[in-house]
Amino acid sequence: MDAAARITELRAQLAHHSHRYYVLDRPEISDAAYDALLRELEALERAHPQLVTPDSPTQRVGGQALEKFAKVTHRQQMLSLANVFDDQELTDFDERIVKAAGHGDVAYVCEPKMDGLAIELVYEAGRFVQASTRGDGVIGEDVTANLKTIKSVPLTLLGKPPALLEVRGEVFIKKADFKRMNEQLLAQGEEPFVNPRNSAAGSLRQLDPKLTASRPLSLYVYEVGVVDGRGFETHAEKLGYLAELGLPVNPKRYEVKGRQGVRDAYASLLAERHALPYEIDGLVVKVDELKLRSSLGQVSKSPRWAVAYKFPPEELETKVLGISVTVGRTGAVTPAADLQPVFVGGVTVSRATLHNEDELRRKDVRVGDWVFVRRAGDVIPEVVKVITERRDGSQQPFTFPTACPVCQTALTRAEDGVIWRCPSPSCPAKLAGRLRHFATRTAMDVDGLGDKLCEALVEAGLVRRFSDLYALTPQRLAGLERLGEKSAQNLVEAIAQSKRTTLRRFIYALGIPEVGESTAKALAEAFRSPQALMDADEAQLQAVRDIGPEMAKAIRGHFAHEENRAEVTALLAAGVEPEAPAVIAAPASSPFAGKTVVLTGTLAKLSREQATEAIERQGGKVSGSVSKKTHYVVAGEEAGSKLLKAKELGVPVLDEAAFLALLQTVSGPGL
Ligand code: IVH
Repeated sequence: MDAAARITELRAQLAHHSHRYYVLDRPEISDAAYDALLRELEALERAHPQLVTPDSPTQRVGGQALEKFAKVTHRQQMLSLANVFDDQELTDFDERIVKAAGHGDVAYVCEPKMDGLAIELVYEAGRFVQASTRGDGVIGEDVTANLKTIKSVPLTLLGKPPALLEVRGEVFIKKADFKRMNEQLLAQGEEPFVNPRNSAAGSLRQLDPKLTASRPLSLYVYEVGVVDGRGFETHAEKLGYLAELGLPVNPKRYEVKGRQGVRDAYASLLAERHALPYEIDGLVVKVDELKLRSSLGQVSKSPRWAVAYKFPPEELETKVLGISVTVGRTGAVTPAADLQPVFVGGVTVSRATLHNEDELRRKDVRVGDWVFVRRAGDVIPEVVKVITERRDGSQQPFTFPTACPVCQTALTRAEDGVIWRCPSPSCPAKLAGRLRHFATRTAMDVDGLGDKLCEALVEAGLVRRFSDLYALTPQRLAGLERLGEKSAQNLVEAIAQSKRTTLRRFIYALGIPEVGESTAKALAEAFRSPQALMDADEAQLQAVRDIGPEMAKAIRGHFAHEENRAEVTALLAAGVEPEAPAVIAAPASSPFAGKTVVLTGTLAKLSREQATEAIERQGGKVSGSVSKKTHYVVAGEEAGSKLLKAKELGVPVLDEAAFLALLQTVSGPGL
């Protein structure tokens, strides 16, 4: 075979495998095999430079840095979307469509509204020739070289491409990539990005494509502009065709009928929002039938046939009323801003973390500043950015303390660390924090022992170590402010009840550095008694799954302190009985062995924790989100979006009775 033919063959193979890897996420060959093909192509192109073409996979990152971006006039205007914010506005939208259609139950395609940057790609005879930003919708900027660096963008289309194809889509950064990228930027002493959207925009508008190539950009396409040589009847058909050509199309979409269908899609996507790997700010509702679309037309810059049904915002402006620091159970001193309360990300936020002194300095947050606060999912609310334009000179910078605000001990920090800590072992703030951790639901589960009460117990000198809890009586608690007789009685009972516990909860409750819930579980399974754990050396610890040298050292270090060992002994002497995990008798015979189960809704006979423990004892795994890989969904009362998702994916659903029956098919360690 001559070089030209081999080059053509290699490019086709590489295009196929890139598609499998970057678009479908289902590679057929190993990374090494892919690299070998790419290297062979590179070598051939080096030997025959006249055969290099701009759409060769070797040419993703190339060319000089630009002086500025060239202007591109879009063949067809790039529209944006009108927003609707509530059910009434959605109904108004649907009513207009129903009127134009002449019938109800209009077919809609609903897609996640990606929070990124709109982009247009042009393919001529299946070859990628140009990419441009939306700009003002008529004229955008030429970002061809930058788009080429995105691995999921095909340089040549698969299948039967039309003579001309304009596709529109969104460039974005996945949440995990964003996090990694910011960590890297920070480590290099550079300014991190505020959010994934800004970082996608910033990365795409780099004049040097080499810089863009180093940024983890992704793309999903969702519309076509001008297309020459192919007609469609529906939007769904169009999306199917784009996917066949090898373009990245978001697999997540809802094909629904009427406004009730849209409502269900909205509820389902909103519930899933935080589990998605990318950020979204709403649901795009599009008329499916293209004939109906044309009859509807457009108003100014947006079409009448689609709207963005927006989600509640996760980032809002508010005012900093004060800045203060708290001391955690490890002594870490964390600054936080007290805010004028705002409703963001589904909750009212009145305090937001500023992480540490370096972050506080970098963001330069001052008392009296207007700031953006952000709360996405379960993450702690944070101050993202000061709105410096709104400063009026009255703002007060904050001076980070040099001594512990609770016990006045001078703060220390590791040479290469960013966190200031209170080093005093008797600092009341640390004791209260450790006590709170001990009592938490996933540790010893002492009902009613919250932050305030922990602080009060430490302050009153009633509790200095965990084991002191078990010596408390209603009489001794009588002096505590704000604790009535009945509450004191209840607390003593709750403390007594916590004595019967499991070894994994007990280990977790001790607050050993580095030991979270899953490590505690692994330690409980491996050592099976507190004594064996205390006596384990580093080699034995490292033999446990997921425990590395750092962790082994931390655990060993904890038990090298005599008072920590004495505390375990004191707890056991006070009557705490941590039960070792059951040895799994015959997990293979359980219907849950090796299976992934998702729990949703409320079960009548079991708590979430009990159901989880039962499944795990039979060798199964409990996961928080439903996917194609889920084996069963157990649905209790008021099951919501996870149940819907299970039905959508065809995952078997068990009600409580069926679940209990299946658990009981195994004798031995059942419930
Ligand atoms: S369709 C004529 N679909 O939202 C319709 N847009 O405010 C053109 N966006 O500029 C857009 N996800 O940047 C469409 N699945 C999606 C989208 C989407 C995000 C963005 C896009 C557009 C903006 C509209």
